[in-house]
Amino acid sequence: MNAKDLHRPAIRIFRSAELASEAVANVIAERIRSVPATTLGLATGATPRLVYKTLIERGRASWRGVRCFNLDEYVGLTPDHPASFACYMRDLLFNHVDVEPGRTHIPDGMAVDIDKAAKAYEQLISDSGGIDLQLLGIGRNGHIGFNEPGSAHDSRTREVRLTQSTIDANRRDFPEGQEPPATALTMGIGTILGSREIVLLATGAAKAEAVAAALQGPVNPDCPASALRRHAAVTVFCDQAAAARLDIEQLKGTGSVHAAA
Ligand code: F6R
Repeated sequence: MNAKDLHRPAIRIFRSAELASEAVANVIAERIRSVPATTLGLATGATPRLVYKTLIERGRASWRGVRCFNLDEYVGLTPDHPASFACYMRDLLFNHVDVEPGRTHIPDGMAVDIDKAAKAYEQLISDSGGIDLQLLGIGRNGHIGFNEPGSAHDSRTREVRLTQSTIDANRRDFPEGQEPPATALTMGIGTILGSREIVLLATGAAKAEAVAAALQGPVNPDCPASALRRHAAVTVFCDQAAAARLDIEQLKGTGSVHAAA
């Protein structure tokens, strides 16, 4: 792909993580209200917690027609393991809105045949008409989903080996003394780029390096999130801490950055 084929994600910078999260919740709530049969791609981790809390508290839109596909799940954790993403989603969102359980999908990390489960997940996304709006967080190393550095930008859902930094970052979710799984089943970068629209939320200083690399560094597999510049409809919501390493002057010249409330 030539540089001229790359896009400039819209960047919205907020004074706090709370304001950035609320703005993302507003985008999702508005989408569900205007298109009740929306298909959402959802993320887990620390970043979207406040987005889900805000969506639940506002509670104005019905989720009855919504379909959800989560980005990823650990391999080897049952859906009732407290650190599983299935458990996270039930606790933080699904149990609090009127979404139909049969319309919420999370990769099956317990599948006997993981490759088959990965292909089935891709098929289900495409049979459902694709993802309308994908919510992403970003890893300190620039990963999106669990696509670690080195992942091809056209990769599909598959089992991946987690880097030590990802394992260490996510250890907080596991009971004391229990080692997080070494692998996960994740939508690929190509799968993510197949979404019609993408919203990335990044908050906190620990993400500043990754945000700058994604938006202003080279577009290559070293930074998985740089692949987002291959997509025409991406908005990055961040707080000031996560935006701290961006060259704002250069971005202003391109008209792609907005300092919000
Ligand atoms: C979560 C996911 C990951 C996280 C990323 C950031 O489903 O796919 O890419 O978004 O690891 O995690 P937090 O938000 O915990 O910093």
